[in-house]
Amino acid sequence: MKTHVSEIASTVEQPIVESLSSAWKRVIRRRSFLHGIGLAGAALPATKLFAGPKQDQKLSKGDADLLRFAAAIETIEADLWQQYNELGGAVDHNDNPNPGNPAYVTALQNLDTDMPQYISDNTDDEISHRDFLNKYLESKGAQPIDFTMFKTLQPSQASGAAQNGRLTNLGTLTVDTSWYFRYRSSQNPDLGAKFPQLIDIVKQPAIPLTKAALANSTIQAIANIASIHFAFIEQGGSSLYPILALKANDSEVLRILLSIGGVEIDHFSLWHDKMGNAFAGPLAPLTDAGTGLTFLDFNNAANQHNSGLSAVDQQATSQLFQTNLILPEPCQFLSSSLPPVSIIRPTISANGGPMATVQAFIDDRLFVGQNPAFIEQLMDLASQAETADRQRQQ
Ligand SMILES: [Fe+2]
Ligand SMILES: [Fe+2]
Repeated sequence: MKTHVSEIASTVEQPIVESLSSAWKRVIRRRSFLHGIGLAGAALPATKLFAGPKQDQKLSKGDADLLRFAAAIETIEADLWQQYNELGGAVDHNDNPNPGNPAYVTALQNLDTDMPQYISDNTDDEISHRDFLNKYLESKGAQPIDFTMFKTLQPSQASGAAQNGRLTNLGTLTVDTSWYFRYRSSQNPDLGAKFPQLIDIVKQPAIPLTKAALANSTIQAIANIASIHFAFIEQGGSSLYPILALKANDSEVLRILLSIGGVEIDHFSLWHDKMGNAFAGPLAPLTDAGTGLTFLDFNNAANQHNSGLSAVDQQATSQLFQTNLILPEPCQFLSSSLPPVSIIRPTISANGGPMATVQAFIDDRLFVGQNPAFIEQLMDLASQAETADRQRQQ
């Protein structure tokens, strides 16, 4: 019997959320115990993921952990981007024209006529990241990532979606939009700054889920949410890769992390530009007739609210909202006594590293309906990458 994605969400979501903090605690407890007895990295449940009994040979354990975590993240990215591409992309992975979901494609093109091509290109990039990292790990005798057994979530039933099991759930996302202010502010989360939500997107679909015809305002809201979600995902990668790079030991591993990480930043910049069109004329203002979710025109000063912004940020309200200010505004870095500088942020591991990334994906509700064993294995991979440390020269 086929079950709708949102039905899965409502039935399985609660146990996952409730067990989350205990799962993190369990993972960390187990790792510190194994460290204590000199077995860190051995006999972890995460090894169940891997196809064969190969042991890491030519890479240090830390470097293998970093690349394996990157491969896990890229597998997740590839899965979600493939769903977006089937419904909204211009071409498939073999460059054949993709019919997609015509209403969704039209709504995406209202944001930018090139959206379908950009979605296809981004999808190809993630697939290439995933496949390269896995092949590189294998070439070094290290274990790659294979999440095939967890591709169990029901696909969208809308026309255009392939009927394969999925790793990620795009049907009921809660998208953190605070990154929008983070990149416009002169304050830095690594120095303690906090930012409010630009718009509250709570348990919303980012793709059409059924064959039912949707009101124009509803399919446009779904496309708008997708564009915001694209930027959310890619800003996460923009922080993650420099953080992983800081932990790398081998110069070739460092080169891989910096080279892929640069493309995540490229993706982020692109989507930051496109999502801004959801909050600018002529598309904005728009209210979803079904949910009431409203996309205001944020270039209109009347819509530039101060709520939740810090006192410093309140002094630059228009800069905090202006939709075409898509390049990172200079912000504090390292010390408030140094001049502001345009940078990727955060780059402290606790704020954007492996464990923070997995937590952000969970909070995004990407894994609603997933097997708790998958979440715990992902946490294990994150905790191993988190503690991989560069052997610094004295
Ligand atoms: Fe990627
Ligand atoms: Fe990416």
